[in-house]
Amino acid sequence: MSEKKRVFSGMRPTGQLHLGHYFGVIANWLDLQAEFNCFFSVVDWHAMTTEYADPWKVQKMVPGLVRDWVSSGIDPEKCVIFQQSAVKEHAELSLLLSMITPLGWLERCPTYKEQREQLAAKDINTMGFLGYPVLMAADILLYFAHAVPVGQDQLPHLELAREIARRFNHLYETDLLIEPQDLLTAEAKLPGLDGRKMSKSYGNAIALSDPIEDILPKVRSMLTDKNRLRKSDPGDPSICNLFPYHKLLTDPAKLPEIEEGCRNASWGCVDCKKVLMESLEAFLTPMQERRAKIDDDTVRDILADGNKRAREFAQRSMAQIRDAIGYDI
Ligand code: TYM
Repeated sequence: MSEKKRVFSGMRPTGQLHLGHYFGVIANWLDLQAEFNCFFSVVDWHAMTTEYADPWKVQKMVPGLVRDWVSSGIDPEKCVIFQQSAVKEHAELSLLLSMITPLGWLERCPTYKEQREQLAAKDINTMGFLGYPVLMAADILLYFAHAVPVGQDQLPHLELAREIARRFNHLYETDLLIEPQDLLTAEAKLPGLDGRKMSKSYGNAIALSDPIEDILPKVRSMLTDKNRLRKSDPGDPSICNLFPYHKLLTDPAKLPEIEEGCRNASWGCVDCKKVLMESLEAFLTPMQERRAKIDDDTVRDILADGNKRAREFAQRSMAQIRDAIGYDI
């Protein structure tokens, strides 16, 4: 492999990819894939931390995620697209890192506390769930990744990955593990239809593969400037939940008209939503056409090739890591 810097990122196969994933993360992946050695992983073991009762459902979601990535423009010729569970070294490194990770670091992790509250209906009092950030650190550190493009919610995990790398290097008197840097897009926390972070579990998402006719009612339901009760009230795009979408999707030349129309009340929210619907359709239709052409065999070939390339890298790096702790037997 060439001497380009490495990028690692992953997504859980737990649902359809939505606009938050696209503008929060994929937009960065698209820029990075030309310049860096990129490893993009379908992290199906991570999905098991919450979906352990339905592993079959997780596996069924894997091809759809790969389809979403490729139809978004992620190029399997330029980057390594692979499935985490096909590269067993992730599990081995996770085990070794779990030996050196103090429990307090995991118990204090804000995402651990938040998720336990949000997923109160699920029994996630498991070692696997507590150890989620350790497995994530293993994913990243195994590829000696310099940079990790993610959304804002992943920052505490990245901080932990750096701390674990530091602790490993300190304990074993080495500089083998690289402390990874996070890379955020400007939309690292894209709001959903209701103004909370767009998320599959909140039911407030627009999926990249949603049929266009299903998107219209979603756009109609979008929260706008809550102080604007009547069309004759002037609005404020800077606090409107819909305006960020125009900035991402609508022809920039049209933005001043929309902004002005909202502020002087010559445009109503319905007009604004109509334009957004057109922008969404123009953005999603070509992607959905590409998606329809990616068949099961293509996905299988992409993963077979990616798994092989990831495995080759991971076997070499794991040998170096074992060597660093005197376990290269
Ligand atoms: P996951 O599968 O929950 O989400 C995948 C990525 O999408 C980002 N994201 C968003 N960004 C902006 N706005 C939103 N509304 C939004 N919703 C989701 C997430 O921040 C994430 O970057 N722990 C990871 C998966 C993972 C991983 C890794 C990531 C496992 N190992 C190693 C990077 C490196 C997760 O649960 O992502």
